[in-house]
Amino acid sequence: MSNVFIVGVTGGIGSRLAPKLIEAGHRVSGLHRRPEQDAALREVGVTPYPGDLMEVTTEDLVEATKGHDAIVFSAGAAGSGADRTTAIDYGTPVKLIEAARINGISRLYLVSAFMDAGRDRPRKEGFEHYMKMKRQADNAVVASGLDWVIVRPATLVTEDGNGRVNLERAIPYGNVARGNVAGVLAALIDRPSVNREILEVTDGETPISRAVEAIRH
Ligand SMILES: NC(=O)c1ccc[n+]([C@@H]2O[C@H](COP(=O)([O-])OP(=O)(O)OC[C@H]3O[C@@H](n4cnc5c(N)ncnc54)[C@H](OP(=O)(O)O)[C@@H]3O)[C@@H](O)[C@H]2O)c1
Repeated sequence: MSNVFIVGVTGGIGSRLAPKLIEAGHRVSGLHRRPEQDAALREVGVTPYPGDLMEVTTEDLVEATKGHDAIVFSAGAAGSGADRTTAIDYGTPVKLIEAARINGISRLYLVSAFMDAGRDRPRKEGFEHYMKMKRQADNAVVASGLDWVIVRPATLVTEDGNGRVNLERAIPYGNVARGNVAGVLAALIDRPSVNREILEVTDGETPISRAVEAIRH
């Protein structure tokens, strides 16, 4: 049983990850920005911690993550502007790395981005900056000295998913259900021997538990 802190716990991935972890016997806490999210989180068994990622400091995150064994970052600015993208998609992982170090939390799971995303269509404004920030967050995590896994989902679709994925260090680009990404994160948290890996994920044919087991060391 681990104590897991999720940043992005109210999002498409995070809200599917929390119940999976609770069902597996873990304790889950998570950061949320709106007061009305507090009750809904408690209802599913998540201990809520209030905070807006545009304002939280490293010290706030040290306080929030105290006593946890693992941190998941699955938040995102979702195209809300360059400054927010910098602060949320890059700045927050950097603060979480520092908080993890201070609290002696060894494991960090980062939701990153698939490098082929959007290359076959005209780029929306801010997309290059977003990809740059995701890449810089990856760089910071890899250099952190912590134990970590970076998960790079292909294009997310709002579905629970069927529990079958393609998960490897390099795979062809495609779509992936948010529920399948959550399933992969839950399985990785249950298998800490998978460590210091960058894994790409799309929907696929392999049951999640087998796909995670197949990542050998
Ligand atoms: N879209 C894609 O196709 C794609 C592909 C690959 C990777 N990704 C990555 O996947 C992750 C997100 O996936 P998702 O589907 O779960 O996204 P989502 O549904 O948009 O959820 C984003 C989460 O971040 C939280 N958040 C955003 N701004 C915040 C702030 N200022 N303070 C506190 N919380 C804040 C949201 O809180 P609220 O509930 O309050 O909004 C929510 O919990 C991101 O890291 C993204 O870069 C996306």
